[in-house]
Amino acid sequence: MTVIVEQPELEVEVVEKKDDVEENELLLDGGFVVPETNSFGQTFRDYNAESERQSSVEQFYRTNHINQTYDFVKKMREEYGVLNRVEMSIWECCELLNEFVDESDPDLDEPQIEHLLQTAEAIRKDYPNEDWLHLTGLIHDLGKVLLHPSFGALPQWAVVGDTFPVGCAFDESVVHHKYFKENPDYNNPAYNTKFGVYSEGCGLNNVLMSWGHDDYMYLVAKENKSTLPSAGLFIIRYHSFYALHRAGAYEHLMNEEDVENLKWLKIFNKYDLYSKSKVRIDVEEVKPYYLSLIKKYFPEKLKW
Ligand SMILES: [Fe+2]
Ligand SMILES: [Fe+2]
Repeated sequence: MTVIVEQPELEVEVVEKKDDVEENELLLDGGFVVPETNSFGQTFRDYNAESERQSSVEQFYRTNHINQTYDFVKKMREEYGVLNRVEMSIWECCELLNEFVDESDPDLDEPQIEHLLQTAEAIRKDYPNEDWLHLTGLIHDLGKVLLHPSFGALPQWAVVGDTFPVGCAFDESVVHHKYFKENPDYNNPAYNTKFGVYSEGCGLNNVLMSWGHDDYMYLVAKENKSTLPSAGLFIIRYHSFYALHRAGAYEHLMNEEDVENLKWLKIFNKYDLYSKSKVRIDVEEVKPYYLSLIKKYFPEKLKW
């Protein structure tokens, strides 16, 4: 049963909290997150719940930072880049994600599809003419199907959380940076300098990012020949790259196109966070509009 609780102030709080990028409040990615309130409107203010939440987030990042190496990312891109697992439409993927992702978060009493549609609809209200951006809002998290058994049921650390480049030094602004010390790349001279295997202004397209739902969904969109503009693909690919779009790190790797696209990513990100509210969406009502956008920018069936 769904209990709707009006909590207008909390929406603002979520956005503000992310602004100061404190170590202990990192969200495990928009829509698949440690919520600020549970479905009965209780906040996580009591000490035990709060400290438990922090330590599980910290544990998550420890595992993530130790295992996301240059070699791991290369292997995953090769393995998943062939897209030979499933054939389905974008909407079918929304439904698949909806079915199972929510189970992992008992306090988030809201179907995953609503987070996607809340993001999309919030953007649509403010940018009515940028239909590509509405669709980007809908599909940006679909890569989380990597958690599903038919995609190998990848562990959370290989699917969600903030992303960062591998193959060069891990910037201090990446959350829980201290755990990189246990990553084998940390002491590898080929990978631990400012530029590592990259060069100034080489473009993010040439930079390997830690593996997760962002890069996977980008690969799906690109390989299935989506006609989304470059800014849409950029948003999908880098929306969890907080060190870049929040802290301004790694700008030395960007090219001119990245600089342009980053402007849109910053706009998008506000909606991704803000939409984690209790605004309910009537899925059936808005579905025809999004089906028309899917038809415009994607083939009927996609390889995943
Ligand atoms: Fe999201
Ligand atoms: Fe995401």
